Formats: sequence, C-alpha cells, structure tokens
Amino acid sequence: MLGVLLIHTSVLLTVSAQQNLVRFGKATQSSTEAGGRAQNAIDPPISNDWSFAKCTHTIIGKNPAWWRFQFSYESAYITDITIYYREGLARRMDGFKLYVTNTSTIPPDGYLCYEDPDPGLPNITQTIPCYELGKYVIYYDDKGSLEIKINRSDGPVIELCYVAINGCQKSRWGSTCEELCADNCLERNCYPENGSCVWGCNPTNCLNDICDRDTAVCIDGCKIRRTGIYCNQCK
Ligand SMILES: *[C@@H]1O[C@H](CO)[C@@H](O)[C@H](O)[C@H]1NC(C)=O
Ligand SMILES: *[C@@H]1O[C@H](CO)[C@@H](O)[C@H](O)[C@H]1NC(C)=O
Ligand SMILES: *[C@@H]1O[C@H](CO)[C@@H](O)[C@H](O)[C@H]1NC(C)=O
Ligand SMILES: *[C@@H]1O[C@H](CO)[C@@H](O)[C@H](O)[C@H]1NC(C)=O
Repeated sequence: MLGVLLIHTSVLLTVSAQQNLVRFGKATQSSTEAGGRAQNAIDPPISNDWSFAKCTHTIIGKNPAWWRFQFSYESAYITDITIYYREGLARRMDGFKLYVTNTSTIPPDGYLCYEDPDPGLPNITQTIPCYELGKYVIYYDDKGSLEIKINRSDGPVIELCYVAINGCQKSRWGSTCEELCADNCLERNCYPENGSCVWGCNPTNCLNDICDRDTAVCIDGCKIRRTGIYCNQCK
C-alpha cells in the first residue's frame, strides 16, 4: 500500500522543484564592492535588474571571485539551482562554475554541478540541475571577462541578483519538504521528490532481514516482539 502510494506521488512530484532553501542559511563572498553584499543574492527581488542594493558585487580585478551559501542546518539534498545574473554583463560571468560541497574550501572541493562552456557567453538566467547532498553551494569564477574595456579587462566579477537553491533539508522530502524520510532509510537519507531511500534500508528488525530498498518497509513482516511497517516499534 505505502509502496504504491510512493510510486504514485513520485510521478506527480518529479517536475516540482521542492522548496527554495535560501531562507535557511547565509551567504559570503570573496570581496565586496560598495553595497553589493553577498546577502543581496538571496534577498528579493527575483530579477536581473542591477543596483548595488539588489545584487552582489565583488571587487573588479580580484581573481578568483566566489560566492558561497552555507545552510543553517547540517546538510540539504539539492535538486536544482537557479541564478539571475546582472543584466547586460554576461561577459563578467564567463567561465563560471557551480559546485555543491561539504567544505568551505576555495577553490571548491566537491561536486561540480556545471561549468560554463566555451565558446560564447553564458545565459544570465539559468536553472542548473544538481542532484546532490551537501552543506554549501559555491559559485566560482577564475575567468570572467577577458575583453579589454577602458584599458582593463574585468576578469571575473560576481554580480548575482538572485539565487534560488531548491531541494529539501536532509531527511525530509515532499513538495514543501513536509514529510520525514523513513527512519529505516540508511542515515535517514531519502530523495527529496519521492521519499525513496538513497542508500537503501536497514533490515535489522525485519523478518528474514528483508526490507524494500526504496520504501524501507519490511516486506516479510517483523522479527519477534517487533511491530509497525518498519518494525521499529516494540510490541
Ligand atoms: C525516486 O527518485 C529517485 C531519483 O530520481 C529514483 O532513482 C527512484 O527510482 C525514485 N523512486 C521510485 C520509487 O520511483
Ligand atoms: C557530502 O557528504 C555526504 C555524506 O557523507 C555524501 O553522501 C555527499 O556525496 C557529499 N557531497 C559532496 C558534494 O561531496
Ligand atoms: C536563457 O534563459 C532563459 C530563461 O531560462 C530562456 O528563456 C532563454 O531562452 C535562454 N536563452 C538562451 C539564448 O539560451
Ligand atoms: C588608456 O591607455 C592609453 C595608452 O596607455 C592612455 O593614453 C589613455 O589615457 C588610457 N585611457 C584611460 C581611460 O585610462
């Protein structure tokens, strides 16, 4: 019954983007020009409209440049990240990379979700799928604009007007992350959009040591003195 339910909801929920998690953490960046603080990228408005009050701005000529978001809780299962860069200046984000990591290290040490390819300039608005469990999201650029303008090349400049980080806090799932992963999922880790265990299930209390690796339900029932679909309660 639960298995059927999970499969059914997964079909319905696969296209939804889970929750935007940027309220649950803080942002820092490599340097700050005038009022262009790191926090501006996670505060509204959601647009490419630039001003020092609306977007981040790192100091021109400082290479590499980076922006980093850290979750206020242990870690999150991310599904995708949407970035809105400053209008008209795609050249300054050329060659950017987006990472999900477990450490604050720079250059980033973790999972590379996306690297802007050559040739051509990146789209200033993009949604980047990144299916990964981590503690930080890092936008990193060591290239940027190589074009000579007014006797200088700008290099990388981080001018993020908005960033949305979609997913769920670890051990939660559902369209608003309202559900808890089954506690028999190993490390209580499940996929944010359908609740299936990521690393399989713990069969310790299940009869014949068999559990469903997606739902964690004990398929053959419980060992003696155990009850519940996960057999995690004492009789
Ligand atoms: C849940 O989603 C994951 C990741 O997309 C997928 O691998 C898994 O098969 C899904 N589970 C079910 C029961 O469809
Ligand atoms: C972060 O750590 C978790 C748990 O050890 C691991 O599963 C995950 O793959 C790591 N993420 C990255 C981006 O390295
Ligand atoms: C840039 O991204 C926007 C929003 O995702 C999309 O509508 C547009 O078609 C993209 N443009 C190019 C040139 O890829
Ligand atoms: C650019 O460089 C040229 C040659 O060195 C110099 O004459 C000119 O004044 C410079 N322009 C600016 C805006 O710095």
